[in-house]
Amino acid sequence: MKKLLFATVFALMLQGAGSATAQVYPSRPITIVVPFSAGGPTDALARTLGERMRAALGQPIIIENVTGAGGTIGVSRAVHAAPDGYTVSIGHLGTHVVNGAIYPLQFDLLKDFAPIALIASNPMMIVTKNAVPATNLKELIAWLKANQSKITAGTAGVGSGSHFSAVYFQKLAGVQLQFVPYRGTGPALLDLVAGQIDLIVDQASNSMVQVQGGKIRAYAITTDKRLAAAPSIPTVDEAGLPGFHVALWSGLWVPKGTPPDVIAKLNAAVMEALADAAVRKRFADVGLEIPPREQQTPQALGAHHRAEVEKWWPIIKAANIKVE
Ligand code: MLT
Repeated sequence: MKKLLFATVFALMLQGAGSATAQVYPSRPITIVVPFSAGGPTDALARTLGERMRAALGQPIIIENVTGAGGTIGVSRAVHAAPDGYTVSIGHLGTHVVNGAIYPLQFDLLKDFAPIALIASNPMMIVTKNAVPATNLKELIAWLKANQSKITAGTAGVGSGSHFSAVYFQKLAGVQLQFVPYRGTGPALLDLVAGQIDLIVDQASNSMVQVQGGKIRAYAITTDKRLAAAPSIPTVDEAGLPGFHVALWSGLWVPKGTPPDVIAKLNAAVMEALADAAVRKRFADVGLEIPPREQQTPQALGAHHRAEVEKWWPIIKAANIKVE
C-alpha cells in the first residue's frame, strides 16, 4: 500500500514538474542550430523565423551555425543536446531525411527527434554563372554534354539539398558534373556570382535575389507551376526536363524527451511567426511557400517526415550516393 502511495505522490510531483517547466519556459535564450554556414537559405530561414519567435517567446533566439558533412555535424549537435527546449534543430529534406540513407548516423532521424513544425517549402532552381553560353535549359544540357565532367557544380556537401538535387539532375539530363562542396550554398552562391564555379541546383530562395539582379542566370525550377516571385522562370516541365520535381521543405525539431508543454509553446511561437504578415511577405518574395495552418502542427511534421523517409530512402540507396 505504501509503495502505491509513494508512486502516486511521485507521479503527481513529476506531472507538476512538467507543467512547472512549461510555466517557466523559456527562462533563458533559445538556440537554433543551423547545420550550414551563415548567408545560405537555411540560415536565412532560421534568422527570419527566430526574429519573430523572439516576440512570441519573450527570449532571444540565438542562431548557431554548426557546419560540415552535408549538415550532419549540426544535426548531430542538436539531437544530442538536453531535451529542455533550449536547443532547436532546423533542417530540411536533405538533413533530416536523405542524410539518413547516406551517412552512418549515430542517431535515428525519426526516433531521436520530436517534431515542432513544418516551416516552408520551395523548389530548386537550376542556375549558372552569366558566362555560360546557353539561353535555355535545352541549350544548357547540350553545353553540359559537350563539356562532360569539366563543369563545376557547387553544393553544400554530400547529402545536402543542392547535392542530391544535382545528382538527380545529372541522372535525368544524362550529364556529368564535378561537385565542389561548400559549408553551405551561401558561400557557393558567392563563387557562382564571381564566376568561380559554373552551376548550382540551388534552393530558389537562395538564388532568387541574384537572378532578379542579373548576377546569375536561371533556367528552370523543379516544380509544375511557376513561382509568383519569378514568373519568367519556366518549370522543368516547360523547359524540357519533365518530372525533375524536388520540393525542398524545411522544419524544426527538438531532441526526443522534450516535455510536451515545451513543444506546444515552441509550436505556438512558430505558428504565430508564420501568420505574421512581414514574415509571409519575406518568404513569398523568395519563393518560399508556407504550409496551411493545419499542416503546421507537430503531428503534421511527424507524419510528413515519416512519409518522406519511406519515399526517398529507397531512391537514394538505389542511386548509391557515396560520402566522398
Ligand atoms: C542545401 O543545399 O542543403 C542547403 O540549401 C544549404 C544551405 O542552406 O546553405
